[in-house]
Amino acid sequence: MVGGPLGPPEQQSSRGGTGVGAGSVTEHLLARLGHAAQYVGFEVNRELHRYLKEDRYPHLEIHHASADTLAKTLYGRRVGAAVSTLPWSLIARDTRHDILGQVQKILEPGGTFSVFLRMHCPWTPPMRELWDQLT
Ligand SMILES: C[S@@+](CC[C@H](N)C(=O)[O-])C[C@H]1O[C@@H](n2cnc3c(N)ncnc32)[C@H](O)[C@@H]1O
Repeated sequence: MVGGPLGPPEQQSSRGGTGVGAGSVTEHLLARLGHAAQYVGFEVNRELHRYLKEDRYPHLEIHHASADTLAKTLYGRRVGAAVSTLPWSLIARDTRHDILGQVQKILEPGGTFSVFLRMHCPWTPPMRELWDQLT
């Protein structure tokens, strides 16, 4: 489920998750990481963020922030893999562009960017545009 080869724990750097939601993808990411401290998440919805931090993952670094603030929020820290479960087809074009720019800024050289989508989304115009930008 996780994009990119994660490699053995001792070689792993941080992983960033955007649009953490209720955390089902995070659960799989954590299973592949050597330490929970390697994970950093972003969730813009206040209630979901409260649930994540207070009920589900008090020990994880999860920011109540939009993915278009990744670089600013991480203060220059970089990650080896960024994993998105963002609803790209519903996000305005300018914000999509901003988020992609932020992902580029926070990825280590050779880092990976993985995008999870629902099956009906890849053919929507916003997603076609996103694929063009990624290739
Ligand atoms: C499809 S859901 C993620 C589902 C998640 N993988 C789970 O297991 O519940 C998308 C999530 O992205 C969040 N989101 C939307 N726009 C965002 C943004 N600009 N920055 C961060 N999170 C965002 C939504 O609040 C929502 O929780």
